[in-house]
Formats: sequence, structure tokens, C-alpha cells
Amino acid sequence: MGLSHSGSMGAATPRRAVIEDAGAVADVLILSRRAAGDAIPAGVHSDAEVREWIRTVVIPQREVWLMEDADSRPLGVLVLDEDWVDQLYVAPACTGMGLGSRLIELAKSRRPAGLQLWTFVTNTAAQRFYLRHGFTVAETTDGSGNEEKAPDIRFVWTAP
Ligand SMILES: CC(C)(COP(=O)(O)OP(=O)(O)OC[C@H]1O[C@@H](n2cnc3c(N)ncnc32)[C@H](O)[C@@H]1OP(=O)(O)O)[C@@H](O)C(=O)NCCC(=O)NCCS
Repeated sequence: MGLSHSGSMGAATPRRAVIEDAGAVADVLILSRRAAGDAIPAGVHSDAEVREWIRTVVIPQREVWLMEDADSRPLGVLVLDEDWVDQLYVAPACTGMGLGSRLIELAKSRRPAGLQLWTFVTNTAAQRFYLRHGFTVAETTDGSGNEEKAPDIRFVWTAP
């Protein structure tokens, strides 16, 4: 499935992902993470493992939102797990167009009591993004608690 920008970004509407969307959700996560280069440390799981995890764990057990263009091409994914922004990824061709902002606003509307999330210390663009959206730094770690063993930052958001 292609992830290229069709020019119909204005039509992008987040909807709850169902099991049939597992491939599209996985495409966005895998390709976005790969495109992030050094900003996001290499994952410890194969693409096949990621696809299996999305199909058997993430979509059945978590709140998954998929943003698509008018031609049903996947543009962005938001995964909420209790008060955690568990995943937020925009397709590489579509970053910087406001889609991530729409997804984080959706997250706030779904969790008005507050949100938290982890981002890697190396992911400075994401940190800028979260700070602009009212998140603040709660803690910084040496990475010993995550799979990649890479230093990360926990951001929190509380409604003003
Ligand atoms: C981080 C991420 C989710 C943000 O989503 P996004 O769609 O790129 O975010 P937005 O477009 O809403 O805002 C980001 C940038 O676009 C700009 N922007 C916002 N709305 C815009 C618009 N309508 N037109 C042009 N630019 C816009 C912002 O000023 C910002 O610029 P900056 O990077 O110079 O600070 C996305 O870039 C991404 O998936 N990155 C790779 C994966 C990742 O890091 N995920 C987070 C893991 S914790």
C-alpha cells in the first residue's frame, strides 16, 4: 500500500482502526520510524514482529486512530493506552502539514484529564512538537527501562 501524499490532505479524517486496518497501521509505524533516521534508535523487532504485534495486541487492546486521505491511503496513526500516547506517527511524505497536530488534539479530547508519553532524547523534532502542544518534561531517563536502551524523556500534558 502506498503512503504518498495524494493532494487531498484536507479530507484526512481520523477514524477508529479495526483489525482489517492492521496492515495500514503497521505501514505508517514502520515507514515513519525508518524515515526518522538517527532521531529514533533502530527498533529491536523485525517488521514482521511489529505487524503481528499490531494485529494481535495493539488494535484489539488499545484505542487506535487512523487518519487517511480521500483515497483511503494511510497518513497518520495515534494509539492511546489508558492515559498514554502509546504511538504517534505521521507518514514520512506527510509530516509538517499539521496532521500530527490534529492527532494530538484528538488525543487531548479523548483524554481530557491528561496525557503522558515517552520520546527519545535524540528525537528533538518530536520534543519541539510536544512542547508547542503544551506538554512539559516530567523526567529524563538513561534508557535502561526501554527496549532500545536509549535515553528518553517522559512528557506530560494536563488540561489548563
Ligand atoms: C512528530 C510527528 C508526529 C509530528 O507530526 P506532524 O504532522 O509532522 O506535525 P505538524 O505538522 O502538526 O507540526 C510539526 C511541524 O509542522 C509545522 N506545521 C504545523 N501545521 C502546519 C501546516 N498546516 N502547514 C505547514 N507546516 C505546519 C509546525 O510548525 C512544525 O514545525 P517544526 O518541526 O519546525 O517545529 C511527525 O513529525 C512524525 O511522525 N515524526 C516521526 C515519528 C515520531 O517522531 N513520532 C513521535 C514519537 S514520540
